[in-house]
Amino acid sequence: KPHKSSNITWSNSIVTREERCALNKHGSCALWLTGLSGSGKSTIAFAIEKELYRHHINSYVLDGDNIRHGLNRDLAFTEEDRAENIRRIGEVSKLFVDAGMVVIAAFISPNEGDRATVKELFLPHDFIEIYIKCSLEECERRDPKGLYRQARNGSIPNFTGISAPYDVPVNPAITIDTEQLSVEQAVQLVLDYLKLRHDIA
Ligand code: PPS
Repeated sequence: KPHKSSNITWSNSIVTREERCALNKHGSCALWLTGLSGSGKSTIAFAIEKELYRHHINSYVLDGDNIRHGLNRDLAFTEEDRAENIRRIGEVSKLFVDAGMVVIAAFISPNEGDRATVKELFLPHDFIEIYIKCSLEECERRDPKGLYRQARNGSIPNFTGISAPYDVPVNPAITIDTEQLSVEQAVQLVLDYLKLRHDIA
């Protein structure tokens, strides 16, 4: 997107990210969950948030369906609108990390290039890409919102996996196969990974 504002100056805050993290008693990062509709992103995202809360770690979930009710209500599911959706959420996630929190973003984010652009907003170890892996067949079998059925009969256009593409992540930090793992096991994988950061879990 072109930069449309002019005559703007960046103001630095006096309190630093490090000081905010010291106040919180833990570091901050972005957990970026990507996967097909129905793969389990939201379920796992909210379960991670609950577990981090139990550990007194300040976290917050940004969820595709929810964000599209408010902040991104002006966006549809064209390639261009999805790119803008992901760009905005990348920027919001960056603010959360600067605020000293663990942000959990759960968006289909189907485009590899869009995800790579988000990743570049962060220091390498602050962005953790998590692939919520589930076959299209299983997502369609689950069809929790009846959207796949509608996509198949043509009433929902540009549906990811049916009539719009999904780029499987090339080198995610964590892969969670939701056809094999329980929600608890999925959360544990993420917590174990965060322990490597030493300053978080
Ligand atoms: S994206 O691709 O990252 O911009 O999508 P996201 O913001 O995560 O929104 C995905 C949820 O929107 C509903 N929905 C659709 N998904 C995919 N394709 C089409 N055409 C579509 N229309 C509506 C659907 O409920 C998605 O929710 P999840 O949680 O992924 O199942």
